[in-house]
Amino acid sequence: MTLQELVDQQAQKLTHENISFGQGTTNATDEAAWLVLWKLGLPLDTDLNAHSDVLGSQQIQSVEKIMDERIQSRLPAVYITQEAWLQGVSFYVDSRCIIPRSLIAEVLAGGSIDPWLVTEQPRVLDLCTGNGSLAILCALAWPQAQVTGMDLSVEALQVAVINCERHQLHDRINLIVSKGLDQAQGLYDVIVCNPPYVNHSSMQALPTEFKAEPALALAGGEDGMNFIRQLLAHVALYLSPDGVLILEIGNEHVHFQNAFPNAYPICYPQVLATIKCCS
Ligand SMILES: C[S@@+](CC[C@H](N)C(=O)[O-])C[C@H]1O[C@@H](n2cnc3c(N)ncnc32)[C@H](O)[C@@H]1O
Repeated sequence: MTLQELVDQQAQKLTHENISFGQGTTNATDEAAWLVLWKLGLPLDTDLNAHSDVLGSQQIQSVEKIMDERIQSRLPAVYITQEAWLQGVSFYVDSRCIIPRSLIAEVLAGGSIDPWLVTEQPRVLDLCTGNGSLAILCALAWPQAQVTGMDLSVEALQVAVINCERHQLHDRINLIVSKGLDQAQGLYDVIVCNPPYVNHSSMQALPTEFKAEPALALAGGEDGMNFIRQLLAHVALYLSPDGVLILEIGNEHVHFQNAFPNAYPICYPQVLATIKCCS
């Protein structure tokens, strides 16, 4: 069996077993390719077709074992590999934190926030930093920025520490335990925030893979807006005069608009940028 055949076979198995995706990959083929390559110690950008060698039985068995683990446990693949990639940047991940997949990463990588920056040395706050991925992407995007990452979860911040060390950014990223903005100090030029925003009925319907992530990271109350209500009530106090808040709301557009009919969002489909928010 070749590499491509093994990936195809395992993708079929994942599909047959109704595995859920969305925590690093979006479909069975990508998920199978990722786990196969990872297990065989091959680079994730390996060209499957270029590998015409026949795989050994031990290699095949080791892949089958990890696929069985993925299927039986319903654990997200990232919690098995303990590595996630976002915009080409690698992050250590375990079950103490959510798997990095924020839409804000795309906005950062695309440079769309840059025109709003009025200083080359912005003070940046990544509120709800969790694994630290957005704080790190901000620090990489803006080399002169001083970044603070805040989160209520001490466990998630332990993962963020590992990631800051992995990217040698511990001197530019300050990690603080904070409930919401409680520990915020002074004014920030940019606040990025991927908060818990999943509404109650969506929480109930989550596939097992997503239930493996900390509920604190996802659950946003009845309409998903509990954290965001608190945030928008106070955030203007912590934004510099030209400051900008980049807030992810995912699929909760309708709930957001119902909760904040007077907010003035400049919209990407699932990320709101609100300059000087209204409550
Ligand atoms: C959706 S996750 C985002 C994690 C990370 N920024 C990312 O994009 O991958 C939300 C994070 O908010 C944190 N959180 C939940 N409630 C909080 C609160 N009241 N104050 C601060 N952080 C909170 C959770 O611990 C979790 O790490």
